[in-house]
Amino acid sequence: MPVVTIKPSGKTVDVASGTTLLAAAMNAGEPIQHKCDGNAECGSCHIFVLEGRKSVSKIASAENSKLDTIVGIGSKSRLACQTRVGDENVTIELLDFASGR
Ligand code: FES
Repeated sequence: MPVVTIKPSGKTVDVASGTTLLAAAMNAGEPIQHKCDGNAECGSCHIFVLEGRKSVSKIASAENSKLDTIVGIGSKSRLACQTRVGDENVTIELLDFASGR
């Protein structure tokens, strides 16, 4: 079962493949924003995927469109609600500057 490590706290959570990073962070008790309840509309769940980027789900058009509107995105940016864990461990970083807060 893949392990998701969440920075900066360093908490870890075991999740089934296919679990969203938003659900993983919430299961770990992390204070992640999710104002549109996972519909790729608010951008508040913007995170960085630091490790395991190749194993997570690919960016679909709705996520890509929303990311384009967020200030401060980079190559590691994903919307946690749209990104599903694959077969490998993943390390993510929660951000203070996600839009929509
Ligand atoms: S919860 Fe709104 S974009 Fe992810």
